[in-house]
Amino acid sequence: MDGNGRWAEQRGEQRTAGHRAGASSVRRVIESAPDLGISTLTLYAFSSDNWKRPPHEVEALMVLFAEYLADECQRCIDNGVRVNVIGRRDRLSAPLRARIAQTERATAHGTTLHLRIAVDYSARDAIVRAAAQLSRTPAPSRRAFSDALNAAINSRPAAPDVDLLIRTSGEQRLSDYLLWECAYAELLFCEKLWPDFGEQDLARAIEAYRLRERRFGATSPAAASAVASVAA
Ligand code: IPE
Ligand code: MG
Repeated sequence: MDGNGRWAEQRGEQRTAGHRAGASSVRRVIESAPDLGISTLTLYAFSSDNWKRPPHEVEALMVLFAEYLADECQRCIDNGVRVNVIGRRDRLSAPLRARIAQTERATAHGTTLHLRIAVDYSARDAIVRAAAQLSRTPAPSRRAFSDALNAAINSRPAAPDVDLLIRTSGEQRLSDYLLWECAYAELLFCEKLWPDFGEQDLARAIEAYRLRERRFGATSPAAASAVASVAA
């Protein structure tokens, strides 16, 4: 979900206006995801490196995030969306932590879409935490490592690997996002800024994904699989 700030700056507005507009894109994308066959959607809302931003922008993002959870909780329940915040919790404010816990509890029965919102998230930190947790396990399997990683980021339920990673705003880098989970993800870079990204763009991204041949290191393509897990 990149490009909120530039979207606002292009309009001569405050960056926070871009974040607000970005929240509307989130709504549109969530609504259209299940019909496109997506069962897990992970959105990068705030990276651990985003703490380096000016305090007023960090504060505005946190307020917006809490408001988003409050405003959308009922809609998520109605639409079978299970909300799950992944990342560290210990540096978030107590009211925000409570809001997250309440939203996760209230939406826990949703089975249509597992919506993971990454907040204070760093893939490298998550990998280090998972490794620390397995330090007494002599030769952990990939599966065991995945499980530890999911636990380290509070992913409930544990999520599958990412099939398709979409990065908006023309940037072409991973920025410490889902590094382990993206081992075989198809990467799609889109020029649009996140607030301009909508249902049609998501549908186009899925179409482009379907044309990719996924071989997972083998010589022949793997059986075509649905695009179950998408990250943006
Ligand atoms: C993405 O938009 C939202 C967050 C990372 C919080 P940015 O805030 O990164 O927008 P740009 O990249 O400055 O345009
Ligand atoms: Mg950015």
